Amino acid sequence: MLSIEDNELLTRTGPGTAMGDLFRRFWLPVALSKEVGPTEKGPTKVTVLGEKLIAFRNKDNTVGLVDARCPHRLANLYWGRNEGDGLRCVYHGWKFDKEGNCLDQPAESEETCFKQHVKLKAYPTHEVAGAIWAYMGPADKKPPFPEFEFTLVPSDHVYASKRLQLCNWLQNLEGELDTAHVQQLHQHEVVPGSMVALAPRYEIKDTGFGMLMIAKREGKDGTPHAGKINWRMTPYIMPSGTLIPQTPERPQHLTFAVPIDDVTMMGYTVSWRADRPITGEDMRRFTEDDILHLRVDPETFLPVANIHNDYLIDRKSQATETMTGIPGLRLQDVAVQEDQDGPIAPRHLEKLGSTDLAIVMMRRKLLTTVKGLQNGQEPPQPSDSESFKCRSVFAEVSSDLSWQDVFKSVQPAGSKVALEA
Ligand code: FES
Ligand SMILES: [Fe+2]
Repeated sequence: MLSIEDNELLTRTGPGTAMGDLFRRFWLPVALSKEVGPTEKGPTKVTVLGEKLIAFRNKDNTVGLVDARCPHRLANLYWGRNEGDGLRCVYHGWKFDKEGNCLDQPAESEETCFKQHVKLKAYPTHEVAGAIWAYMGPADKKPPFPEFEFTLVPSDHVYASKRLQLCNWLQNLEGELDTAHVQQLHQHEVVPGSMVALAPRYEIKDTGFGMLMIAKREGKDGTPHAGKINWRMTPYIMPSGTLIPQTPERPQHLTFAVPIDDVTMMGYTVSWRADRPITGEDMRRFTEDDILHLRVDPETFLPVANIHNDYLIDRKSQATETMTGIPGLRLQDVAVQEDQDGPIAPRHLEKLGSTDLAIVMMRRKLLTTVKGLQNGQEPPQPSDSESFKCRSVFAEVSSDLSWQDVFKSVQPAGSKVALEA
């Protein structure tokens, strides 16, 4: 359980909140590339961490991310005209570039130099892996862009999607770290007789990017898994990213929860392969087998199967074939995460068990980091950009290998993840 005060601390991310300040120390995905521009398409509404923003693409292909409120009389810049080198407010014609400088004020006299004293709030962006990323924190604390492996591979090796999820961001993150639910909620996605059906034991280690959640399942004597250990290692990438455990021959997937406000979030999934482009067969698996990338409404990003249609639950299938009757891993997760006694779970009511260790440790780490930041202590993770180049682990190997051996054996060349002993 978590006290009411600590639950408030971790779940509120608007401007001026402590957790909001922590989110604002990291680069965050804020839109898909395909949503923004070209110039004549007009700007795009983006709401992140409770801030209403506008994204627009310049003629040189760079992307601006600015406050939706024109500083003059607060008209919405969504109606603005993208002139290729800046956005012009249609009310009185003030024009701003992507750094928020005021370039033009048609009705003001040049002599007053008024425009030099006007600034529109603007955030730096970086475009990679089919997404626009932004840094929304203090300019003097801006970290280097994290060296995720997918930023270092050709663009056709990466596929990104996003979905609107109707709950607080923390419910999604906790679900991603909760390995014990796999053999229940997703039991019909688990291969029958595989070691994932066994109860795991956990270890949790600090790393440069956050934490590594290690689930260990030992093969029983007299079964085909005797003498083997099944390792599922989930990197928790602060503040709200996880790498879903995957076998080495499958693509890697980053899932990232980005708060829109305190009761809705955008869930980004970035899938990539280091060795070859993403193929049609990969895409089929993403969207039909595992269903990690959901089918969504192209405007709102609300999944086609959602809370309003009971996630297309098939009760007959649930009674006779599957645990949930809900199709696909991701949707099963969304269904349970969107209502844990509401969109912000009252965590003081929980009864946590031994398999909730990963969640307890993640909360503890976040609370320490958030409270540290409140006292002026900067989090070390954002500046350790090289440590973000890592992969998850899902492997069944001989029991004489240590977890460090197994972890290191699947990491990309040049990986610099420092591991706690
Ligand atoms: S409100 Fe934008 S120019 Fe006047
Ligand atoms: Fe899940």
